[in-house]
Amino acid sequence: MDLTRRPRRLRTDGVRPLVRETELSANDFIAPVFVDATTDQRQPIESMPGHERVPLDEAVARVEEVRETGVEAVILFGVPESKDERGSRAWAEDSVVQEATRQITAETDAYVITDVCLCEYTDHGHCGVLEDSAADDPTVTVENDETLALLQRIATSHAEAGADMVAPSGMIDGMVGAIREGLDEHGFEHVPIMSYAAKYESAFYGPFRDAADGAPAFGDRRHYQMDPANGREAIREVELDVEQGADVLMVKPALPYLDVISTVRREFDHPVAAYNVSGEYAMLHAAAEKGWLDLDAVAEESLLSIKRAGADLILTYFAEDIAAQL
Ligand code: PBG
Repeated sequence: MDLTRRPRRLRTDGVRPLVRETELSANDFIAPVFVDATTDQRQPIESMPGHERVPLDEAVARVEEVRETGVEAVILFGVPESKDERGSRAWAEDSVVQEATRQITAETDAYVITDVCLCEYTDHGHCGVLEDSAADDPTVTVENDETLALLQRIATSHAEAGADMVAPSGMIDGMVGAIREGLDEHGFEHVPIMSYAAKYESAFYGPFRDAADGAPAFGDRRHYQMDPANGREAIREVELDVEQGADVLMVKPALPYLDVISTVRREFDHPVAAYNVSGEYAMLHAAAEKGWLDLDAVAEESLLSIKRAGADLILTYFAEDIAAQL
């Protein structure tokens, strides 16, 4: 037996920190914040313990709470006061995300990213305008090219309100190019786009859809989000977003798709973001509540794994808790 090579030599307390390959920092995290125009009180989100939808006049306070933990970046999601077929509250100048963005950027030093999508704003809950045909036909899907013009308006309205970065999440073909063009035409060449580039049609989004009230009223999103079975396709998807000018490339969800994160890291040299989604958060909380897992430990290990796989930025509901614990 040859025991000249002993990996355990580098596992003593003194040397472990020196040979550690991956380190988490509060600078890695982006904290999701939900602003709700339908309420004047904070509303706890049942399936996401510790998270709330906050009314507009508490958006600044909510972001300050995040910043106290050392996390400086937030991504805003809005619940509008009303919804319609085309999602017009998504681009209205006086709507929830625009108003929250104006207040947060005026009153804090947070880096404000906005989610650019239609599903929280349309009465049917899909991420774009629907093809015309019978409204209750379950095969109806999102009309791609008509949706692009709307996404362009939404992103521009967010930039006008002061958003530091926009993040289109609809998985509409051409969305990054359309948004880039709209931003540039309006003088927002400096506003980067973080594209939800490889976003899968995942059952792990369940709790989010309660939080942001954006569940599809019929059908699902499989005609625009990616099939969980496909890894190679992610390279083609991401490549298109790179060609269209994406600045940051996101993979979503994170834990069940670590292979995709690592592929995107290897194939592209852009910053890679990973979205540790609502279901990933909820399942750890549920197990911890039963006493089956140690929440802080599994949360930190999850984020460490996501970073080790190749993510530079992590969008996570654990941002505040883990940052405070680091
Ligand atoms: C909007 C959007 C979703 C999430 C982020 N942006 C929901 C969806 O696509 O159904 C999910 C986030 C999460 O689950 O934490 N398109």
